[in-house]
Amino acid sequence: MKHYSLLISQRARSAYFNDYLDVARAELQWLIGDEAILHRPIGAMDFFDIKAGEDLLSVLTSLSFVQGVFERQDGRLTPLDKRPAFNLHEDFVFGAKFRGKTNETLTQLLINIGLMCIDYRSIADVKLLDPMCGRATTLFWAMRYGIKSKGIEQDPRALADVRQMIKKWCKVHRQKHQLTEGFVGAKAKKKEIGKFLEFSAENTSMRLINGDTSDACQLLNDEKFQLIISDLPYGIQHHTTHKTRNPLAILKAAASEWSHSLKPGGAMVLAFNRYLPKREDLIDVFTTQGLQLLDFSAPHRMSESIVRDVVVLKKTNDK
Ligand SMILES: C[S@@+](CC[C@H](N)C(=O)[O-])C[C@H]1O[C@@H](n2cnc3c(N)ncnc32)[C@H](O)[C@@H]1O
Repeated sequence: MKHYSLLISQRARSAYFNDYLDVARAELQWLIGDEAILHRPIGAMDFFDIKAGEDLLSVLTSLSFVQGVFERQDGRLTPLDKRPAFNLHEDFVFGAKFRGKTNETLTQLLINIGLMCIDYRSIADVKLLDPMCGRATTLFWAMRYGIKSKGIEQDPRALADVRQMIKKWCKVHRQKHQLTEGFVGAKAKKKEIGKFLEFSAENTSMRLINGDTSDACQLLNDEKFQLIISDLPYGIQHHTTHKTRNPLAILKAAASEWSHSLKPGGAMVLAFNRYLPKREDLIDVFTTQGLQLLDFSAPHRMSESIVRDVVVLKKTNDK
């Protein structure tokens, strides 16, 4: 075991607001279990001091709040020349700003928490679904990690917006890639339901499908995923297809499809606004489908009307 100090990034402060220390601690504790975490402010910088094995270094560098890792010896901090081995330029995740975008750092935390809940031999074997994927922040992050992903979004304009982003960043960063479009199943007559856009690069891929998440199994041809990661509609900016402010109705309609799409041993990590739905109500929607609640939460106040939190559920291996 070595002594490490993790420098907390400015990005984490902007993502988690006044609660950044608690959220960062929750993510780190999920990784290192009962090991002690000591908060050490130095000047305007915040560090978390921990003891950990060297084998954890690469995961530590990819925690959502970590700007850098230092080794601590006799009170001295030595910066380590370590960085996460991500695919694609970070512009694919951070470059575009649009209304309703999920904070990129929070999205990274959701993926990290999910990865820590599942068993896998190689990250290339993991498949991720974001069943309410908006303009694909989770899917782009998944690609950076080397995870194959699919997403479902009701807003038909999302496909064109995401295509534009992909083209822009591929051109700017000279990223070799393939873009394909088509329809899942037979071409639907109504609107653009079932239309998809698939982006492949660096031996991985993401597919964004237009449609209603309560038809997930059909849209996904019954494919199964180890991870379901999503930032649910906040009831304020994002109306659901049911034109209600409360996302609970659509979640209830989609719950069996989402649980069906999760592999045994897989994990579901959801960000939501604690005011709508209530944490217990959200949990209830999925535990009644047989998923098991894990003991993780990361509440942080974003505004007067939004306290964002995270719920983690798991499908047991015998399901
Ligand atoms: C909080 S946003 C997700 C934003 C996304 N993570 C991003 O960064 O672009 C929630 C998304 O759920 C979508 N949504 C709501 N109801 C849906 C439904 N029934 N089927 C599919 N998507 C839905 C909304 O259109 C919205 O884009």
